Formats: sequence, structure tokens, C-alpha cells
Amino acid sequence: MRMLVTGGAGFIGSNFVHYMLREHPEDIIINADSLTYAGNLENLRAVEQEPNYQFVRVDITDREALRPLFEQEIDVVVNFAAESHVDRSILEPDVFVRTNILGTQTLLDLAKEFKVRKFVQVSTDEVYGTLGDTGLFSETTPLAANSPYSASKAGADLLVRAYHETFGLPVNITRCSNNYGPYQFPEKLIPLMIQNALADKQLPVYGDGLNVRDWLYVEDHCKAIDLVIREGATGEVYNVGGNNERNNLQVVRTILQELGKPESLITYVTDRPGHDRRYAIDASKIRTQLGWQPKYNYESGIVETIRWYLSNQAWMEQVKSGGYRDYYEMQYGERLGS
Ligand code: NAD
Ligand code: TYD
Repeated sequence: MRMLVTGGAGFIGSNFVHYMLREHPEDIIINADSLTYAGNLENLRAVEQEPNYQFVRVDITDREALRPLFEQEIDVVVNFAAESHVDRSILEPDVFVRTNILGTQTLLDLAKEFKVRKFVQVSTDEVYGTLGDTGLFSETTPLAANSPYSASKAGADLLVRAYHETFGLPVNITRCSNNYGPYQFPEKLIPLMIQNALADKQLPVYGDGLNVRDWLYVEDHCKAIDLVIREGATGEVYNVGGNNERNNLQVVRTILQELGKPESLITYVTDRPGHDRRYAIDASKIRTQLGWQPKYNYESGIVETIRWYLSNQAWMEQVKSGGYRDYYEMQYGERLGS
């Protein structure tokens, strides 16, 4: 199978590339990523020489630059490429609309033109909005996005649906809860708190710290996407989540305990505008229909993740200093004549 993976240099995308090369060495992976601040080729150093892996620097809104990739007979498109951080979307919504909506529509058009066998849109539970103290998001929960980020992802989901209904494009949408694990950019809660705690810096907790997320170890998300690619019924949406609801204070306290740091580092800061209170996923559809099962629970996944960041502090330093951005030039600059 020839797979076009967009956004494969980001957090989940790079974990997915590693997962697929390990689990399906017979497949060919083309990683198309424009390398925004969130794209980091250091994440993929270990696989860059693999004969069945190729990296191409391309923006998913650039139709003509994408066309030669589709001319290589792509079987499956998996679209991870996105602007993904809620706080940034509050500061600068434009790029979220451009990449997440226009970029997805550009990929859909090419997938239709080149008759790909499947288009998988990697979406998020945030398109459903927020929950009160009870209840779970199911695939039929109405979309009610509250941030520019989630609104742009919801817009993309509707386009994916429309290309299926109108043009018969074989699509799937996955909507996963919050991921954590190796290679996550330290603007997101868990790596940010690990990094600050290690440096004995304050840990900025928004509002009262009681917002709830349903945490899933990234490898279990990759496993779910792999299953959807191979066995997902055409046109279907699959929610993905591991029933690991924790509030932000619980997460921060686990990190402090594991690193042996004092709770006095916790600092309450002004809340995020429009801050969704609670996300929680009903994943019974993917569990019963596709047999998906997560391997990690929160307790095992979070400890593994903290250990990973502890033993990969050079990676974190590269990200903080921006040094990772030089890597593309060093590795590809001369070869590409740029
Ligand atoms: P990320 O921000 O770490 O990575 C995004 C990647 O997309 C980067 O490599 C970036 O360079 C690339 N990219 C951005 N704009 C691009 C463009 N115009 N053209 C080509 N490449 C571009 O994001 P992530 O956390 O890995 O999330 C990946 C996907 O999964 C996103 O679509 C996100 O909405 C979805 N998702 C994330 C989570 C989570 O908890 N992180 C949960 C559910 C779903
Ligand atoms: P985040 O990792 O940004 O994911 P999302 O907003 O997409 O769920 O944030 C997770 C939770 O942590 C969310 O409730 C906001 C909160 N948060 C903080 O309290 N402090 C921080 O510095 C960050 C980045 C997030």
C-alpha cells in the first residue's frame, strides 16, 4: 500500500510513521509536511534512511506542489497536517482556517481526481464542544465547536463528509481525545509541565485547574488509525478514547510526584477564553466494530511519557532553542538546491 501521510513531522504524525514502518514494513510511506514550528524532522531521524519512507516538504494548500505526489499512485491519504494548538488559534485564527479547512479541501480534491482508495481525516473530539459533569461524546453528538481551532477542524470534517456524500469519495473520520507521549511540542499541557517542573519553573494552570480531558497514549491512537485504514467502513466516523478522564490538576500533580518536585510550583493563571470544561469519549463503536483496544492506561502511559522526556532532554533542548529547525537545511538543503 502506498500511503500519503500529511503532517508526519508533527507529534502524532511522527509517532504514526514509526508505528507503520514497524508494524507494516511492506507499505510505502510518503510524509508530506510543510515544517511549521510544530514540524520536527529530528522525530524521524531513526527512519529517514528506510527505503520505504520518503519525506517531501510541501504545504497542503499548494495543489500544484502536491500533484506530483498523487501522480505516484497513492492508495491511501491520512491527513494529520493541521494547526493544532487552541491557544494559538485564539491569537491567530487565519492560519487555522487556511491549513485546516482549505488544506483539507485541497487534499480532498486531489484524492477525488486521482481516485484514492481511502481518505482518512484525523480529527478531534473538540469538534463536539464541551460536556457538563456527565455524559460522553458519541459519533452522533452534534458538532458544537467553541474555539477557532475546533471550528476549523469541524469545518474540515464537514467537507470530508460532503466529498463522500456528493462525490462518493471513500472516506473515514477519526475523532480522538487528547493524546500524550513522545515528541509532543512543549506548548501542550503535559510536555510543557514536564519541562517547567524539570527547570523548577512555575506551572501555569488555567482557571481552577478542574477542566477534564480524556487522555490517550499516542501509540493507541496510531493503532486505531491503522485499523480504520484497513477495516473502517466507508463513510463512517470513529471516536477514539481510552476512558482515562483526569482534570488538569491531577495531571500536573502526577508529573510533580514522578519528578520529585514540590506542589508549590503550581501557579493558577487567568483562564483560556471559551475554555471547554470537559471532554470524554464513548469509543464503543471502534471497540465493537473494529476490535480496537488500547494497550496503555493513564497510569502506565504517563509514567512512560515522563521517562521518555527525562531521557530525551537533548530533544527538548533542540526544540526550545529552535535548533531543530536547522536540521532540514543541513539534511536536505544541498540535495534540493535550496
Ligand atoms: P502538531 O501540531 O504536533 O503537528 C502538525 C504537523 O502538521 C506539523 O508537522 C506541521 O509542520 C504540519 N503542518 C501544519 N500546517 C501544514 C501545512 N499547511 N501543510 C503541511 N503540513 C503542515 O499536531 P498533532 O498534535 O500531531 O496533531 C495531528 C493531528 O491530529 C491534527 O490534525 C490534530 O487536529 C489531530 N488531533 C490531535 C490531538 C492531540 O491531542 N494532539 C488529538 C486528536 C486529534
Ligand atoms: P492542551 O494541551 O492545550 O490541549 P486542549 O486544549 O486541546 O485540550 O490543554 C489541555 C488542558 O490543559 C486544557 O484544559 C488547557 C490546560 N492548560 C493549562 O492549564 N495550562 C497550560 O499551560 C496549557 C498549555 C494547557
